[in-house]
Amino acid sequence: MTQSFDVAVIGAGPGGYVAAIRCAQLGLNTISIDEWENSQGKASLGGTCLNVGCIPSKALLESSENYERAAHKFSAHGIKLQDLSIDVPVMIARKDKIVSSFTGGIAMLFRKNKITAMHGRGTLLKSNNEREAWQVEVKNRDKVEVVEAKHIIIATGSTPRLLPMAPVDNERILDNVGALALTEIPQRLGVIGAGVIGLEMGSVWRRLGSEVTILESLPAFLSAADEQIAKEAQKIFTKELGLLIQTGIKISAIRSSNESITVEYTDSQGELLKLEVDKLIVAVGRVPNTSGLGAENVGLKLDGHGRIEVDGHCRTNLSNVYAVGDVVRGPMLAHKASEEGSAVAEIIAGQAGHVDLNTIPWVIYTSPEIAWVGKNEQELKSAGVQYKVGQFPFMANGRARALGETSGFVKVIADADTDRILGVHMIGPYVSEMISEAVVAMEFAASSEDIARIVHAHPSLSEVLHEAALSVDKRALHI
Ligand code: FAD
Ligand code: NAI
Repeated sequence: MTQSFDVAVIGAGPGGYVAAIRCAQLGLNTISIDEWENSQGKASLGGTCLNVGCIPSKALLESSENYERAAHKFSAHGIKLQDLSIDVPVMIARKDKIVSSFTGGIAMLFRKNKITAMHGRGTLLKSNNEREAWQVEVKNRDKVEVVEAKHIIIATGSTPRLLPMAPVDNERILDNVGALALTEIPQRLGVIGAGVIGLEMGSVWRRLGSEVTILESLPAFLSAADEQIAKEAQKIFTKELGLLIQTGIKISAIRSSNESITVEYTDSQGELLKLEVDKLIVAVGRVPNTSGLGAENVGLKLDGHGRIEVDGHCRTNLSNVYAVGDVVRGPMLAHKASEEGSAVAEIIAGQAGHVDLNTIPWVIYTSPEIAWVGKNEQELKSAGVQYKVGQFPFMANGRARALGETSGFVKVIADADTDRILGVHMIGPYVSEMISEAVVAMEFAASSEDIARIVHAHPSLSEVLHEAALSVDKRALHI
């Protein structure tokens, strides 16, 4: 007999698993369908984020940052180390353990919330009773089952964008999966794409000793960020970390031999150059994952970018079918996916779920970290919005000095007339944590004066945001 549910969630990444938990909390009989398998061929919940994305990359960033501190920063504290070395397999095993504890944790949360978990590929089937229930085929190798659900939440995520010239084998030409699993430090590492993955993964292996060259096709570095932050980041990554970053390049060929990989490209001046490396990471963006979903079976509408088309409440063109996370418009970020998952569960349960895409924070976990929320200066200029800016450097902050992490600054952008905060941009230590205050401020439609009037603990890094807010009206105190 076909099993019937109130909700079937296809995909158990941060969008899907959070949607399933929230549905179950709201009393909906829920099934989660996910096809992810780990390197041992076992079902592993959590999608890209937990298996080969956010969590493992942050584990390696932390390990490599500790090594970097021990190698270059401890001596300033009078701490002397001899014979410093890194055991890469141990570092990778630590990362794998963190991943498996989290993926196992989701399985436990599913059991606790009485969510049925089914392993396999979910495909929407054409059925005659669409008004009553949708049918989903779940295929796991030779085993095929069909389940029914009144509501469908699609959370099938994204996969790496392929570069036909650079076929990924995850031995020598790597995507995020291979870049997170290297067991030896490559002497020469090439990275195609100076985006978020390129910078985070490039940082990990550079800190551990690789010579890292990043090739970026756009003329501007980190074009998604505020221009001033991007310029500061490029300066620090080049001078302090030692990343070799070339922008405005065009790759013409990639050749592999037994010894090395050679990337042929023209630089921004049109000069033909060659880069020879031992490993090459390809990180040129991600594409929405709708393969095998059966969109064509049911007439599910996609947009011009191959994403599932949704309205402001994640509703697709099909009744009772929703889509969330990387597979729909908006930033490809785990917390955005999760919030959409929660919101949709609440909508299905008759509540009012909503996600404001303008207040989704971005964080890049390089050193120093980069974080922002809201609009940047170039966006406001092109929209013709009048604004004022306040800025404050970490160099003038007591806690940053004690940490020995004084690079970077915080910038608050407020409306010229109303003083309402339009965007906050940060580069500096632990700004991944500091950005939350700016998100709360923007969610509550705060002005820069509101932040200026809030008491911030001393000494703390958060005082830099306080001073930046004061600086909007030219009354910063410590500069
Ligand atoms: P996914 O996490 O991609 O999950 C989709 C799931 O659906 C997968 O398990 C997939 O196997 C399954 N699936 C697909 N099709 C089917 C089907 N037909 N049937 C059954 N199952 C199916 N974001 C951040 O916010 N912070 C970070 O620090 C961060 N770091 C990242 C680092 C890396 C290296 C990468 C690659 C990404 C990172 N991201 C980060 C992005 C983040 O991982 C994604 O935004 C997030 O995982 C999207 O969640 P999702 O639920 O939409 O999709
Ligand atoms: P990305 O979109 O951040 O960067 C890709 C870069 O590659 C761009 O700068 C692009 O101009 C460049 N590029 C494209 N084609 C190229 C070519 N042929 N030659 C040279 N350069 C080329 O994509 P990335 O780094 O793959 O990451 C995908 C997404 O995953 C991110 O956009 C983000 O949404 C998410 N992510 C988030 C993280 C975080 O929140 N800390 C960490 C890692 C990923």
